[in-house]
Amino acid sequence: MNIDFYYHNPTKIYFGKTALDNLEKELSEYGRNVLLIYGKNSIKKSGLYNKLTDILQAAGKKVVELSGIKSNPSYVQMMEGVRLVREHKVDLILAAGGGSVIDCAKGISVSAYCQGNPWERYWINFEEIDHPVVPVGCVLTMAGTGSEMNGGSVITNEDEKIKAGRVYPSNVFPKFSILNPEYTYTVPKYQMASGVFDTMSHLMEQYFSGEDDNTTDYLIEGILESLIHSAKAALSDPCDYEARSNIMWCAAVGLNTMTGLSKAQDWEVHMIEHQLGAYTDCAHGAGLAAVSVPYYKYIYTYGLDKFVRFAKKVWKVDTASMTKEEAALEGIKKLSEFIKLLGLPTTLRELNATEEMLPLIAESTVLGGGYRKLSGEDILKILKEAY
Ligand code: NZQ
Ligand code: ZN
Repeated sequence: MNIDFYYHNPTKIYFGKTALDNLEKELSEYGRNVLLIYGKNSIKKSGLYNKLTDILQAAGKKVVELSGIKSNPSYVQMMEGVRLVREHKVDLILAAGGGSVIDCAKGISVSAYCQGNPWERYWINFEEIDHPVVPVGCVLTMAGTGSEMNGGSVITNEDEKIKAGRVYPSNVFPKFSILNPEYTYTVPKYQMASGVFDTMSHLMEQYFSGEDDNTTDYLIEGILESLIHSAKAALSDPCDYEARSNIMWCAAVGLNTMTGLSKAQDWEVHMIEHQLGAYTDCAHGAGLAAVSVPYYKYIYTYGLDKFVRFAKKVWKVDTASMTKEEAALEGIKKLSEFIKLLGLPTTLRELNATEEMLPLIAESTVLGGGYRKLSGEDILKILKEAY
């Protein structure tokens, strides 16, 4: 492991069928005013909303609500949360939902007492946070982003057509997260697949960089193996607890910073998807699925040995009679087959992208890359290939 690192993850995790039993105890650590934030209607339909309001009431909390958080949460909705936090002097933000709700909660948390324009300061200029943040707690209902155990907050500024992610320091990580895999049984199949691929992409973004013998790469290979195995099981039986619990934990550890330790990391697939999402409002994991194969085909020769290892270790390809190029491409082919098995899109057309959007997406994509640093022209070529 040849890159130095500092590791600290302060999020408390309560995992399993009885996880919610711990909420009341957690609530007792914060003041009386709680902002309960959730999405459109899934938590009401599943009955979780009633359970949460009962617990909040029993704990003597005064609750204000922010509902209807959309997938790819918008800056406007986030600023409505900021207004509520200030007006009601909120002591704790309780997020119940998937990555969008949790990201929005974290965005509110850092923006509530920000002097100046939070969008400019935090999402565009990545400034340090120089004021108190409002604590966030989570009840997760959909696995995929890892937001429940990290400091990420991805917000879409719809006026500017920019979807931007910010990774905050550990004081913005959720204070606690309640992970009951049973809550994910009702997630529609397309969303479940999208979440699975999001986790897979996080792991690949961290994996495809560096040439050293690094424990983190072995960890990632193991998590990918478990994720692929459990995704297949959950596709055939959405209420398979074992599969759902593995998927939920793979998602949390897939982006809780542990799987990025001592890795330079790539993240270009995510950068492209963010702008694809800003233009098409597609489901995050679906956008990643459509971009990944063309991206990896574009860069694999620059990290050839790692792509060969990916084929062997993750997809169990017998590479003995293959050249390195053939082996690497066989691994990418397996990835493509898995995307199809998940029922996710393999082209940008399926996500309602138009040809006119492609240069706009390419121009606004943040440039980075792991094995190969890319230019805007490279991004456009990848997008055309993905179209
Ligand atoms: O709005 P409701 O009614 O709750 O429905 C949601 C939504 O329509 C539904 N859903 C969630 N739990 C459900 C359920 N439906 C039935 N039963 C349940 N138990 O699923 C839909 C999608 O939810 P959403 O929260 O948008 O999905 P996801 O968890 O994939 O979050 C996506 C957002 O997270 C960002 C993405 O860019 C995107 O904006 N990301 C956040 C990251 C982070 N914080 O670290 C990293 C990721 O790379 C990602 O960028
Ligand atoms: Zn992601």
